[in-house]
Amino acid sequence: MISNKPLIVYYSKTGTTAKIAEITTKIIRAEVRGLRESRTFLDKIRFRQEFSKESVSKNIDFNVKEFDPIIFLTPIWNGNPAPAIDRLLEKVNLKGKRVVFGLVGANQTNAKALGKLRNKAILRGCIFIDDIYLRGVKPGQNWSDLTEEDYVREANRLADKVYAVQGFHR
Ligand SMILES: Cc1cc2nc3c(=O)[nH]c(=O)nc-3n(C[C@H](O)[C@H](O)[C@H](O)COP(=O)(O)O)c2cc1C
Repeated sequence: MISNKPLIVYYSKTGTTAKIAEITTKIIRAEVRGLRESRTFLDKIRFRQEFSKESVSKNIDFNVKEFDPIIFLTPIWNGNPAPAIDRLLEKVNLKGKRVVFGLVGANQTNAKALGKLRNKAILRGCIFIDDIYLRGVKPGQNWSDLTEEDYVREANRLADKVYAVQGFHR
Protein backbone atom coordinates (compact mmCIF):
# COMPACT_ATOMS: atom_id res chain seq x y z
CA MET A 1 0.00 0.00 0.00
CA ILE A 2 1.28 3.45 -0.88
CA SER A 3 1.63 5.85 2.03
CA ASN A 4 0.04 9.25 1.63
CA LYS A 5 1.97 11.01 4.36
CA PRO A 6 4.17 13.63 2.72
CA LEU A 7 7.61 14.43 4.06
CA ILE A 8 9.37 17.75 3.55
CA VAL A 9 13.15 17.61 3.86
CA TYR A 10 14.89 20.96 3.67
CA TYR A 11 18.12 22.75 4.25
CA SER A 12 18.22 26.47 4.94
CA LYS A 13 21.15 28.75 5.62
CA THR A 14 19.50 32.14 6.01
CA GLY A 15 15.96 31.03 6.80
CA THR A 16 14.08 31.51 3.53
CA THR A 17 13.74 27.84 2.68
CA ALA A 18 12.87 27.04 6.30
CA LYS A 19 10.05 29.54 6.24
CA ILE A 20 8.57 28.17 3.03
CA ALA A 21 8.92 24.64 4.44
CA GLU A 22 7.15 25.51 7.68
CA ILE A 23 4.18 27.18 5.98
CA THR A 24 3.84 24.39 3.40
CA THR A 25 3.97 21.76 6.12
CA LYS A 26 0.86 23.22 7.70
CA ILE A 27 -1.01 23.46 4.40
CA ILE A 28 -0.39 19.88 3.26
CA ARG A 29 -0.07 18.38 6.76
CA ALA A 30 3.37 16.93 6.13
CA GLU A 31 6.12 15.72 8.38
CA VAL A 32 9.12 18.06 8.22
CA ARG A 33 12.86 17.52 8.66
CA GLY A 34 15.39 20.32 8.63
CA LEU A 35 18.99 19.37 7.92
CA ARG A 36 21.53 21.18 10.05
CA GLU A 37 25.17 22.01 9.66
CA SER A 38 27.46 20.61 12.28
CA ARG A 39 28.82 23.26 14.64
CA THR A 40 32.44 22.34 15.05
CA PHE A 41 35.05 24.97 15.82
CA LEU A 42 36.62 24.45 12.41
CA ASP A 43 33.29 24.98 10.67
CA LYS A 44 32.87 28.30 12.42
CA ILE A 45 36.26 29.72 11.58
CA ARG A 46 36.54 28.42 8.04
CA PHE A 47 33.93 30.17 5.94
CA ARG A 48 34.45 27.99 2.91
CA GLN A 49 33.60 24.95 4.95
CA GLU A 50 30.11 26.23 5.45
CA PHE A 51 29.52 25.33 1.84
CA SER A 52 31.46 22.08 1.83
CA LYS A 53 30.04 18.62 2.11
CA GLU A 54 32.02 17.90 5.26
CA SER A 55 30.34 20.60 7.30
CA VAL A 56 26.78 19.47 6.84
CA SER A 57 24.80 17.38 9.24
CA LYS A 58 26.50 14.25 10.44
CA ASN A 59 23.19 12.97 11.72
CA ILE A 60 21.08 12.99 8.60
CA ASP A 61 18.04 10.74 8.94
CA PHE A 62 18.05 8.64 5.79
CA ASN A 63 14.92 6.69 6.66
CA VAL A 64 12.00 7.90 4.56
CA LYS A 65 10.25 4.55 4.32
CA GLU A 66 6.89 5.58 5.73
CA PHE A 67 6.53 8.73 3.63
CA ASP A 68 5.31 9.53 0.14
CA PRO A 69 5.54 11.87 -1.66
CA ILE A 70 8.87 13.31 -0.53
CA ILE A 71 9.55 16.99 -1.04
CA PHE A 72 13.16 18.19 -1.03
CA LEU A 73 13.69 21.92 -0.58
CA THR A 74 17.07 23.51 -1.13
CA PRO A 75 18.53 26.96 -1.61
CA ILE A 76 20.68 27.38 -4.71
CA TRP A 77 24.24 28.61 -4.40
CA ASN A 78 26.23 29.41 -7.50
CA GLY A 79 23.99 27.19 -9.56
CA ASN A 80 24.18 24.22 -7.20
CA PRO A 81 21.89 22.69 -4.60
CA ALA A 82 22.98 22.91 -0.96
CA PRO A 83 25.54 20.21 -0.06
CA ALA A 84 23.32 18.87 2.74
CA ILE A 85 20.59 17.91 0.27
CA ASP A 86 23.16 16.65 -2.22
CA ARG A 87 24.62 14.38 0.39
CA LEU A 88 21.27 13.05 1.49
CA LEU A 89 20.39 12.22 -2.11
CA GLU A 90 23.51 10.10 -2.39
CA LYS A 91 22.31 7.74 0.34
CA VAL A 92 18.53 7.87 0.70
CA ASN A 93 16.43 5.02 -0.67
CA LEU A 94 13.77 6.53 -2.94
CA LYS A 95 12.60 3.29 -4.51
CA GLY A 96 8.94 3.61 -5.47
CA LYS A 97 8.73 7.15 -4.10
CA ARG A 98 7.24 10.21 -5.74
CA VAL A 99 9.58 13.16 -5.39
CA VAL A 100 9.10 16.90 -5.69
CA PHE A 101 12.05 19.29 -5.74
CA GLY A 102 11.62 22.88 -4.63
CA LEU A 103 14.57 25.04 -5.68
CA VAL A 104 14.74 28.25 -3.68
CA GLY A 105 16.75 30.96 -5.39
CA ALA A 106 16.99 34.57 -6.44
CA ASN A 107 16.93 33.56 -10.12
CA GLN A 108 13.80 32.52 -11.96
CA THR A 109 15.33 29.22 -13.05
CA ASN A 110 18.30 27.10 -12.01
CA ALA A 111 18.59 24.44 -14.67
CA LYS A 112 22.00 23.10 -13.65
CA ALA A 113 20.94 22.48 -10.05
CA LEU A 114 17.70 20.88 -11.19
CA GLY A 115 19.57 18.55 -13.53
CA LYS A 116 21.85 17.42 -10.71
CA LEU A 117 18.97 16.81 -8.32
CA ARG A 118 16.94 14.90 -10.89
CA ASN A 119 19.86 12.67 -11.83
CA LYS A 120 20.53 11.78 -8.23
CA ALA A 121 16.88 11.04 -7.47
CA ILE A 122 16.65 8.77 -10.51
CA LEU A 123 19.76 6.90 -9.35
CA ARG A 124 18.11 6.43 -5.95
CA GLY A 125 15.15 4.73 -7.61
CA CYS A 126 12.28 7.19 -7.39
CA ILE A 127 9.30 6.69 -9.73
CA PHE A 128 8.19 10.24 -10.38
CA ILE A 129 9.76 13.66 -10.17
CA ASP A 130 8.30 17.10 -10.38
CA ASP A 131 9.94 20.40 -9.62
CA ILE A 132 9.21 24.00 -8.86
CA TYR A 133 11.32 27.15 -8.64
CA LEU A 134 10.55 29.14 -5.52
CA ARG A 135 11.53 32.75 -4.95
CA GLY A 136 14.41 33.17 -2.51
CA VAL A 137 16.09 36.28 -1.18
CA LYS A 138 18.47 38.22 -3.41
CA PRO A 139 22.08 38.07 -2.25
CA GLY A 140 23.91 41.34 -1.77
CA GLN A 141 20.82 43.19 -0.65
CA ASN A 142 19.51 43.47 2.88
CA TRP A 143 18.43 39.83 2.96
CA SER A 144 14.85 40.79 3.68
CA ASP A 145 13.38 41.63 0.30
CA LEU A 146 10.72 38.99 0.88
CA THR A 147 7.61 39.76 2.93
CA GLU A 148 5.38 37.37 4.86
CA GLU A 149 2.99 37.50 1.89
CA ASP A 150 5.75 36.32 -0.43
CA TYR A 151 6.49 33.31 1.78
CA VAL A 152 2.82 32.39 1.96
CA ARG A 153 2.47 32.72 -1.81
CA GLU A 154 5.51 30.54 -2.47
CA ALA A 155 4.34 27.96 0.09
CA ASN A 156 0.94 27.79 -1.60
CA ARG A 157 2.58 27.35 -5.00
CA LEU A 158 4.56 24.45 -3.58
CA ALA A 159 1.48 22.96 -1.90
CA ASP A 160 -0.39 23.07 -5.24
CA LYS A 161 2.51 21.27 -6.85
CA VAL A 162 2.37 18.51 -4.23
CA TYR A 163 -1.40 18.16 -4.58
CA ALA A 164 -0.89 17.69 -8.32
CA VAL A 165 1.37 14.68 -7.78
CA GLN A 166 -0.20 11.66 -9.43
CA GLY A 167 -2.33 9.66 -7.05
CA PHE A 168 -1.76 11.93 -4.08
CA HIS A 169 -4.97 12.61 -2.19
CA ARG A 170 -5.57 13.91 1.27
C1 LIG B 1 26.79 32.65 -2.18
C2 LIG B 1 25.41 32.66 -2.76
C3 LIG B 1 25.19 32.17 -4.04
C4 LIG B 1 23.90 32.16 -4.59
N1 LIG B 1 23.71 31.66 -5.84
C5 LIG B 1 22.45 31.60 -6.36
C6 LIG B 1 22.21 31.02 -7.64
O1 LIG B 1 23.10 30.51 -8.32
N2 LIG B 1 20.95 31.01 -8.12
C7 LIG B 1 19.89 31.55 -7.41
O2 LIG B 1 18.77 31.51 -7.90
N3 LIG B 1 20.09 32.07 -6.18
C8 LIG B 1 21.33 32.12 -5.63
N4 LIG B 1 21.53 32.64 -4.38
C9 LIG B 1 20.37 33.11 -3.62
C10 LIG B 1 19.90 32.08 -2.57
O3 LIG B 1 19.59 30.87 -3.14
C11 LIG B 1 18.68 32.65 -1.88
O4 LIG B 1 19.11 33.74 -1.18
C12 LIG B 1 17.96 31.68 -0.93
O5 LIG B 1 16.78 32.32 -0.53
C13 LIG B 1 18.74 31.29 0.30
O6 LIG B 1 18.00 30.31 1.00
P1 LIG B 1 18.03 30.19 2.59
O7 LIG B 1 17.56 31.52 3.14
O8 LIG B 1 17.06 29.10 2.90
O9 LIG B 1 19.41 29.84 3.02
C14 LIG B 1 22.81 32.66 -3.82
C15 LIG B 1 23.04 33.15 -2.52
C16 LIG B 1 24.32 33.15 -1.99
C17 LIG B 1 24.53 33.66 -0.61
